[in-house]
Amino acid sequence: MPRSVRKAVIPAAGLGTRFLPATKAVPKEMLPLVDKPSIQYVVEEAVAAGITDILIITGRGKRDVEDHFDRSVELEAFLREAGKEEELNTVRAISGLAQIHFIRQGQPLGLGHAIGLARHHVGDESFAVMLPDDLCHPKSAILSGMLVAHQQTGASVLCLKQVDHREVSLYGCVAFDGYNGSMVQVRDLVEKPAPEDAPSDLGVMGRYVLTPAIFDAIAATRPGRGGEIQLTDAIRGLLDREPVFGYTFSEGRFDVGNKLDFLKATVAFALERDDLGPEFRSFLEEVVRGR
Ligand code: UTP
Repeated sequence: MPRSVRKAVIPAAGLGTRFLPATKAVPKEMLPLVDKPSIQYVVEEAVAAGITDILIITGRGKRDVEDHFDRSVELEAFLREAGKEEELNTVRAISGLAQIHFIRQGQPLGLGHAIGLARHHVGDESFAVMLPDDLCHPKSAILSGMLVAHQQTGASVLCLKQVDHREVSLYGCVAFDGYNGSMVQVRDLVEKPAPEDAPSDLGVMGRYVLTPAIFDAIAATRPGRGGEIQLTDAIRGLLDREPVFGYTFSEGRFDVGNKLDFLKATVAFALERDDLGPEFRSFLEEVVRGR
C-alpha cells in the first residue's frame, strides 16, 4: 500500500498577465477573496486534506507571499497590546498552518520546470501539486478524493472536469478509457488542443497527485508550447513508464486567475460568511432587481 501523501508543491512563480494591472506590483496569489489572499485558501485546502509540508515555488516580486506565511512579531505585539484577541489569533494561525518552505524559480521557464525544482525537497515520495489559480470550495473535498484514489492505485492522479467543447482549447485535455465511478484511466494528454482535435471534453484542472517518477520525466522533457517546459508533456512521458488515472468532479472549482471567475468566487465565499452573508445577499438582490 502506498505511503500517505504528506507534501504539496504550489507553483507561484508565474507573472499573472491575465490580471494586469493589479499584478504589476502585487503577486496575484495575494489578491484577496473577501479578506484572505487566494493562496491561503489553497494552503488551507492542503492542510484539510492531511498535507503537513508545503513547498511554494516563488519568483521575482513574490516576497509578499513569504511574508504572509511568516510570523509578524511587530503586528502580533501591537494586536496583543490593543486587546485585539480575535485578530491576533487570526494572524498567528497563518504561520502555524503547516511547515511551509519556499524556493525561487530564477526564470519562468514553465510549470514543468517549476515542479522539477521541487525534486530535492520532495525526494522519493508521491506528492500533490496545487495550482494557486484554482480555488476549490472547502466542501468539494476534491484533493481528498484524489488522495484516496492515489492510495488505491499507487499511481499518479490528475484532476479532470467536463468542460464546454468550445473551451477545451483553454486546458490540457485527456484521451481516456471508460469510467469506474469518478475514475478514468488516462491514455494520452494534449495541451490546449483546438476543439476539433480534442480527444475528449475532459480538461485537466490544477490539482495533481504525482509519483516521484515525474521528476525523471520532467528532466527528459524538452521545451514545448511557448518555449516552456510543460508539465503536460512531462506527464505524457510518465505515461510511457506507468499508468496514470484521472479523478473527475463537477462542482466547486473557480479559476481565480480569470477575472470573471475571481468575481464569482468572491461572491460565493462572501455569501457563506455569517458576518457578511445576509447583508451582502440583500444588497445583491437589490442590485439584480435594478434597485
Ligand atoms: P499560468 O500559465 O497560468 O501563468 O501558470 P501565470 O503567469 O501564473 O498567469 P497568466 O496566465 O499570465 O495570467 C500556471 C501555474 O504555473 C505557475 C504559475 O504561477 C501558475 O500557478 N508557473 C508557471 C510557475 O510557477 N512557473 C512558470 O515558469 C510558469
